[in-house]
Amino acid sequence: MNTKQIAAEKAVELIQDGMIVGLGTGSTAYFAIQKIGQRVQEGLNIQAVASSKASEELARQFGIPLLPFADVEVIDITIDGADEVDPNLSLIKGGGGALLREKILAGNSKRFIVIVDETKIVPALGTFPLPVEIVPFAYELTVRKLQALGAQLKIREANGTHYITDNGNLIADCHFGDITDPETLHQQLNTTPGVVDNGLFVHMTSQVIVGHADGTLEILS
Ligand code: 5RP
Repeated sequence: MNTKQIAAEKAVELIQDGMIVGLGTGSTAYFAIQKIGQRVQEGLNIQAVASSKASEELARQFGIPLLPFADVEVIDITIDGADEVDPNLSLIKGGGGALLREKILAGNSKRFIVIVDETKIVPALGTFPLPVEIVPFAYELTVRKLQALGAQLKIREANGTHYITDNGNLIADCHFGDITDPETLHQQLNTTPGVVDNGLFVHMTSQVIVGHADGTLEILS
């Protein structure tokens, strides 16, 4: 079992009958969705909401009952990956482009459990480029505003054209150097017209489950 799978399967142990479960996105979340599907086949009675079209599709494949998120008041537990985790458990997310829906799920969850391998634990956020979701309208102007905040950035591409999120937006992958004050940067970004949201998750994490290369697990909270 690889380190991502070890962390993912540990997190799935937290799920109990009757819960509404938020499904993350990405290669680590994949292992969680797979394991949840296995538990559902064994009789676990839950309903889930997905943070992306990709995870929704996976949930269907694994036979996990899905709810439209609009019908849900609160999620009991969301399990998701991250691109970087700092010592305060602030995160960079959005490497898979699903940051907006992931944040809506995390922000409406009683518990937000992050599953990572040890390579994601960093002393300061910012080596991984921070994904910022921006609307296509006048995006060049929004890009200049992000540059004025100090970003060196690239508009994400896929198959030789702009990558488009599940919400019909673009992603600007931004380097700001070490992000020592994620809360302030989050505020600056999200008050920039044209920005929909950004991949900084601050004060949202309940617990981080870290899978180590030697097969051991570590829980950070
Ligand atoms: C997707 C995400 C992912 O959770 C993040 O990119 C980590 O992905 P992986 O588990 O594949 O390393 O935020 O938007």
